[in-house]
Amino acid sequence: MIRIISKHSAFKPLIIVFILLVLSNQNDNSLYGNETLSEPAINIIFTGEENGYLEPCGCSEKELGGLPRRHTLVNRLRKKDENWILLSLGDLPGKVGRQDEIKMETILRALDQMDYAAHNIGEKDINMGIDLLSYLSQISNVDFISSNIDFNTQVLKVKPYIIKEIKIKETTLKVGILGILSPELIDDTCQDIKVIDPIVSLKPLLSNLSDKTDILILLSHAEIEDSIKIAETYPEFDLVISGHRIDRPGIYLTKVKSTYVIPVGEKGKYLGTITLSPKSTRTDGSKRFNSYLSTTETIPLDERFEDSPAIEMLLKIYQQRLKDEELIKRVFKTGLPSNLTFIGNDDCAVCHNKIFRHWENTRHASAYETLLKVGHEYDPECIECHTTGLSYFTGFETIDSTPGLKGVGCESCHGPGSNHKETQSKDYGKAEVEICEICHENEHSPNFQFKDYWQKIIHPLEEEIGG
Ligand code: HEC
Ligand code: HEC
Ligand code: HEC
Ligand code: HEC
Repeated sequence: MIRIISKHSAFKPLIIVFILLVLSNQNDNSLYGNETLSEPAINIIFTGEENGYLEPCGCSEKELGGLPRRHTLVNRLRKKDENWILLSLGDLPGKVGRQDEIKMETILRALDQMDYAAHNIGEKDINMGIDLLSYLSQISNVDFISSNIDFNTQVLKVKPYIIKEIKIKETTLKVGILGILSPELIDDTCQDIKVIDPIVSLKPLLSNLSDKTDILILLSHAEIEDSIKIAETYPEFDLVISGHRIDRPGIYLTKVKSTYVIPVGEKGKYLGTITLSPKSTRTDGSKRFNSYLSTTETIPLDERFEDSPAIEMLLKIYQQRLKDEELIKRVFKTGLPSNLTFIGNDDCAVCHNKIFRHWENTRHASAYETLLKVGHEYDPECIECHTTGLSYFTGFETIDSTPGLKGVGCESCHGPGSNHKETQSKDYGKAEVEICEICHENEHSPNFQFKDYWQKIIHPLEEEIGG
């Protein structure tokens, strides 16, 4: 299947040579080892911009991605050929905070288990703080690389490049791997680091590496336009793996002079692979190999790939740490207007008994139990939508201190009811579609339509209250 997307004018001036976007459901056998590679080739797996996404939450069907599935796919590919080079573009965590610190360590340990060769440092990695980055660089077997950041510290183990040696038949190929972060993506004044213009910092490295390597790959943590600029400046690169904000790898594969530029995708929902076949000589007679692209695949990580037990174990440890550190108690809370408080469903039931008894049998009422079943009841990111008022004072705190606020209660939609309980005023609690969409947003409830969904849970008519 050949797919060329032309509506993005930024890419128009470039010649899109070919795009072999093989979604693997049309190409299943290659993942199960029936196929043997016919020619000497270098195989690359590239991922990046996990942005804190560890695995599908299970909120809706057909969610893609996750580290446990990724590991299974990597293992299958390695069965076919052990010479895979795994590369990470950068940005393991999502936002700054304790939960993402633990996530970052968890993802890195997973990359370690999968035997990644290199992790390029992205701006989100840096924003977690140099101390954490240094610690992680010490405990991990994955090489941290950056060709254009001066970290100004001895503690951080980071290399400007690495060279991987790959044996193919009688030859040994030397693959140079470099990595940059676009200075535009980071404000380096707030950290004690210096991010240098990649065009400047790559020059001496490349003149040194060109003779020592056969193939050169750049992990370019930059907007695709900036990655293309680097490829135009340095045709020495055979392949540039780029970011940023493009959710699927592979789609915008382009060729710039002799360099392929390919985006990495987001949140690890797809796994990108590339096979480069080196030709023995260059047309200009120089010694380096000249590589050409034989295939690139974009593999959606769906339920065909079972969860790897080793990574599942890492994720269990992650949940345990959230519990041990009591992160749900550390959630940032905002105040409520005019001293309103959440009072819980039991109070509402006194006067709105019929609605309450109906609600008890909806899935909203058992939303907390859902988290218990999947072992996420200490995970603030899940608790937020599966309980009542987590991000407000007097809202859900822990199951012991606020048992009446578990699940999606009356006040999730109607707001804190302390005042209404006293006044029984009719102007309390207008609930409309916007309220639903706080939780039923696209990622967690892609099929949400107000009309259909409300019909499923519509309140019964209440008899005259107190009448
Ligand atoms: C932004 C709000 C939101 C967040 C955050 C969230 N969920 Fe959900 N979850 C929902 C909604 C809404 C549904 C119902 C979706 C639907 O049916 O359309 C749901 C459904 C589910 C279901 C399916 C229940 C069933 O019986 O089918 C599971 C399991 C689940 N969530 C687990 C989690 C876990 C685990 C997390 C944290 C990793 C999480 N959720 C985070 C909103 C959220
Ligand atoms: C002491 C009795 C009492 C309690 C407790 C109570 N309500 Fe009410 N509620 C009323 C009365 C009375 C009305 C007005 C009914 C009417 O005039 O139609 C009302 C009206 C409402 C309305 C409708 C407003 C409208 O648009 O007409 C909502 C929504 C509501 N209550 C939700 C709640 C929720 C949620 C709780 C618990 C947090 C709660 N109520 C607790 C008595 C109560
Ligand atoms: C505080 C977050 C939150 C809000 C607000 C919310 N929901 Fe939900 N909703 C959930 C969660 C979480 C689930 C899944 C519960 C489970 O099964 O564990 C869910 C499930 C449902 C389901 C069941 C889906 C199914 O396929 O059976 C319906 C229907 C629904 N919600 C409708 C609505 C409507 C309509 C609104 C707005 C009036 C709304 N929800 C507001 C969190 C929310
Ligand atoms: C998922 C969101 C949601 C939850 C949870 C919810 N409601 Fe409502 N409720 C609504 C919406 C939306 C309306 C407005 C319906 C309309 O305009 O037709 C409403 C209307 C009402 C009304 C006024 C109209 C009526 O049907 O009498 C009352 C009273 C009420 N809710 C009470 C409650 C009580 C009590 C609970 C908890 C037991 C509760 N609601 C839970 C969404 C919710």
